Amino acid sequence: MKKQTHYDVLAHVIHWLFALMIIFQLLSAQWMHHKIKPGVEPWTLKLFLFHEIFGVTVFFLLLAYLLRAASLVEKDKFGHLFPYNKKGLSLVIADIKTLCRCRLPDRDFGGLAGLIQGLGFLLLFLVALLGTLWLVIPANYIGASLLHDIKELHEFFAQIVWYYLAGHVGMFLIHVIVDKISKNKK
Ligand code: HEM
Ligand code: HEM
Repeated sequence: MKKQTHYDVLAHVIHWLFALMIIFQLLSAQWMHHKIKPGVEPWTLKLFLFHEIFGVTVFFLLLAYLLRAASLVEKDKFGHLFPYNKKGLSLVIADIKTLCRCRLPDRDFGGLAGLIQGLGFLLLFLVALLGTLWLVIPANYIGASLLHDIKELHEFFAQIVWYYLAGHVGMFLIHVIVDKISKNKK
């Protein structure tokens, strides 16, 4: 694997913690229930309790990740995840051109991979934030219908996470395979 200075040990540890919890969140959501209704099994309510606990934990992990990224000014960690300037976007365009030539972009910093990972990060941050807001805001404070909208938005954006995860893991696997093939050729 390529050597990356900005994706260090602590970033790896936090990444794997939130990644595993997010996979649990996506799976638990298939069976959990947050209200007692006829036919709802008690274990599905317990599953929802874990969804709340892990969800709030993910929110704080992502917040810690973001603050740490912001503090790594010398490694320009923000430039990797959010390349929204001329220099950053020129690397993204260069990667797209490489892809159009049926070659895999392979840079240590920024480019298309950084842009997509940054967008995925923001998506997850939004999902975790909406879930946490739904949990902590009292219904009589903002009204039941707005609270319901927050839950609906949480569910809507959470569905997009499946696509991000599929693309992200898919890209990881493609890189592993291509790395192996090129090593065997040497
Ligand atoms: C939904 C859960 C996940 C999210 C939100 C997520 C998010 C991210 C982010 C934001 C980065 C950039 C890290 C940085 O530069 O600091 C990253 C990198 C990475 N992720 Fe994930 N990830 C998730 C799940 C996974 C899973 C399940 C795998 C395993 C296949 C994986 C493999 C990787 C790898 C290998 C990198 C480094 C990529 C590189 O070399 O540029 N991630 N991920
Ligand atoms: C990154 C963190 C989280 C992820 C990935 C996530 C994911 C999901 C998913 C995939 C769904 C189901 C969507 C659907 O069926 O259309 C869902 C539903 C829900 N989530 Fe989360 N969630 C997270 C955090 C939270 C947090 C912190 C809370 C706070 C309590 C929460 C509360 C809920 C509620 C109330 C529902 C609807 C459950 C129902 O109607 O029975 N989530 N979540």
